Amino acid sequence: MIVLGGSASNGIDIHLARELGADLVKLATTRFPDGEIKVTVPDIKDDDVVIVQSTYHPQEKNLFELLLAARFLKDRKADITAVIPYLAYARQNRSFAEGEAVSINTVMDSLSASGVKSIVTVNPHRSGSLMYFRGKVGVVNCEKTVAEALSGKLGDPFVLAPDKGGLEMAKKASAILKCDYTYIEKHRDAYGTVSVEKTHGGNFSRKDVVIFDDIISTGSTISQASRFAYSEGASSVSVAGIHLVMANGALEKMKNAGIERIFGTNTIPCSSAEIIDISKDIASGVKKVRG
Ligand code: R5P
Repeated sequence: MIVLGGSASNGIDIHLARELGADLVKLATTRFPDGEIKVTVPDIKDDDVVIVQSTYHPQEKNLFELLLAARFLKDRKADITAVIPYLAYARQNRSFAEGEAVSINTVMDSLSASGVKSIVTVNPHRSGSLMYFRGKVGVVNCEKTVAEALSGKLGDPFVLAPDKGGLEMAKKASAILKCDYTYIEKHRDAYGTVSVEKTHGGNFSRKDVVIFDDIISTGSTISQASRFAYSEGASSVSVAGIHLVMANGALEKMKNAGIERIFGTNTIPCSSAEIIDISKDIASGVKKVRG
């Protein structure tokens, strides 16, 4: 087995090769004068290839790099597994308004057509969306690893999910942190403005609240949840996000909302957070999907 690291593997390729006992080679990506990318795959003397490429910003370039490499290896009859730690375009998993194109099925179709046989991804926004992929799918849920890394770092913790969809993650994290958990009702209007209404139980008074969420994008969800937690008596608020997209001034917004510490994983590079390596979880996911 060979691990082929793409330009957006964020070091996970190195850890993964070590975990899997595989050799690591790197893709070379350059640009033509007109901005198009050119991908060069090194000479690989193995038909069992694990390509590692996260699809954070610039999403299209990173995704296309992966597709180009896979298509090249397909012609050489390689058995290709794509490890995509952060899977972009997963949130547009349906038409929310008339005429809106669904993006995740296009991404999944493209990977299938490019010869990828299996994909492994981390905490995808909706696992169900991966059914569009015509191969094996490995979903890595890493909230346990994140919660373990937080153990002992928060005084008197209380886990908060910023919406009902995050309840399962909050439950698992709270079991590891040995504390209570709850979720709040979140609404996002047509302009993207987030508001939170009420919790479903739990007493935040003098608690060190840690908000668990799969994605921190604009930081609006987390910021509103933080304000709510403080209004209910929290001593401090921290956040644990799996994918730190951190778009549109998210950091400033979160600081203004009183968030003290930001924890996240290495699926996306982020210099403003305390980063937890989840390569071991990914290695287990790769082993499982490949049987
Ligand atoms: C929504 O369902 C997700 O779990 C996140 O809460 C959301 O994507 C975060 O987005 P933002 O940071 O822009 O509020």
